[in-house]
Amino acid sequence: MIGVIGLGFVGLTTATGFAHRTSHPVWGYEKDAARRQVLQRGEVPFHEPGLPEHLRLYLGGKLQLPDSIEALVKNSRVIFICVGTPADEQGKADLTFLRDALREVLRLVQPGDYKVLVVKSTVPPSTTATQVTATVRECGFEPGRDIGIANNPEFLREGCSWEDFIHPDRIVIGQYDDRSGETVEKIYQDFGAPIARVSLNTGEYIKYLSNTLLATLISYSNEMAMAADHIGGIDVRQAFRILHQDRRWSGQPAKMSTYAYPGCGFGGYCLPKDTQAFITQSAAHGFETDGLRRVLDINREIRAHTVAKTARLCSSQESVIGILGLSFKPGSDDVRDTPVKYLIEGLLNAGYSKLLAYDPLAMAEFRRHYRYPIEYAESLNETLDRSEVILLATAWPEFIAAGRTIAAKKYVDARFCLDQESL
Ligand SMILES: NC(=O)c1ccc[n+]([C@@H]2O[C@H](COP(=O)([O-])OP(=O)(O)OC[C@H]3O[C@@H](n4cnc5c(N)ncnc54)[C@H](O)[C@@H]3O)[C@@H](O)[C@H]2O)c1
Repeated sequence: MIGVIGLGFVGLTTATGFAHRTSHPVWGYEKDAARRQVLQRGEVPFHEPGLPEHLRLYLGGKLQLPDSIEALVKNSRVIFICVGTPADEQGKADLTFLRDALREVLRLVQPGDYKVLVVKSTVPPSTTATQVTATVRECGFEPGRDIGIANNPEFLREGCSWEDFIHPDRIVIGQYDDRSGETVEKIYQDFGAPIARVSLNTGEYIKYLSNTLLATLISYSNEMAMAADHIGGIDVRQAFRILHQDRRWSGQPAKMSTYAYPGCGFGGYCLPKDTQAFITQSAAHGFETDGLRRVLDINREIRAHTVAKTARLCSSQESVIGILGLSFKPGSDDVRDTPVKYLIEGLLNAGYSKLLAYDPLAMAEFRRHYRYPIEYAESLNETLDRSEVILLATAWPEFIAAGRTIAAKKYVDARFCLDQESL
């Protein structure tokens, strides 16, 4: 029922893990004959705790590792492709192994024998929707009708791949259509993890979102450590250990995930000024924190981007733009360096003078701090009634609850807080 092509770290773990966690027979195929023979003897050619004993447990029973790909294709309804996607000379993902594997499979599929091809390899967003579907068509099949297509990014970490695979924290399925997504979802139904069925591009994007964030966190930490060396007198190990005691890494109510989320820029009293101050202090000690400079650049760029997005929705510069939210975050009336201040300035500078603002808590504070030539509404409803375009700038629960009414208008959800499915 399940086929897995390419038995490296990901593929071998996937094949053995499916044998362990599902009731389906699993077929795995590795094209490298030497590696295949090692695996067929029940040996794992790399170090992954938990994997060898489970490979030996299922090998020859629920898990078959045949010498030919024919047996796999014949016996599998859902085929996971786990081949390598190395970087090519220009730094692009080299998709040769993926294309070859797809062709090898498709050449063996009989007309009328519906199968779902699942790209588990990490591929750049849009690869499945463009290149994989194109390959399917080139081989004479119609995606969706003859062959299902999905992707299913893998988040396991080498060194604990077995535990990560059998106890995932989330399962992402990018689907060409519902039938493909449903078929893959059924395989994971007993894994006990939340399953997200998303578009093909979103599925691929989520994997890069995760990896680039991790890369950024590591580079950020390294940049801070280099700055500390320049400033001197700082115990970097101790400082980072204490940083990790912050309950936001795992606790409630504000989790670290709140920070790894897009919006219209960070604001408030701390992050902007502290980031800037650190850049200045480090530079004064002879070390340029370029990464942090970019962090502030991006914080400016996202404001300009949000202003342009809002302006594009307006029929003219006379349009009334309703601005929902003035505080820098929900649950606070703090308006110091609030991002919406820059959005208002951006819109005014672009010639949009009819701005109508509303905030459930921070209106008085905002008027006290700033003297912009804008109007203030008494309520959310008044703002919605009087505006042509809505710019949602603070994720207040009141606004989220009114998502449907907001979505009935032209709007920019600058906090990505409206649940698209319930709109
Ligand atoms: N290693 C990780 O920690 C990790 C984690 C998540 C995702 N990924 C992604 O998963 C994919 C696989 O990574 P990996 O580390 O397992 O790679 P790997 O190089 O260890 O394994 C790939 C295997 O596929 C085999 N192969 C290639 N073409 C084949 C074909 N046509 N038929 C059968 N076998 C074929 C190769 O011989 C190799 O053994 C990559 O896209 C990678 O980016 C890796």
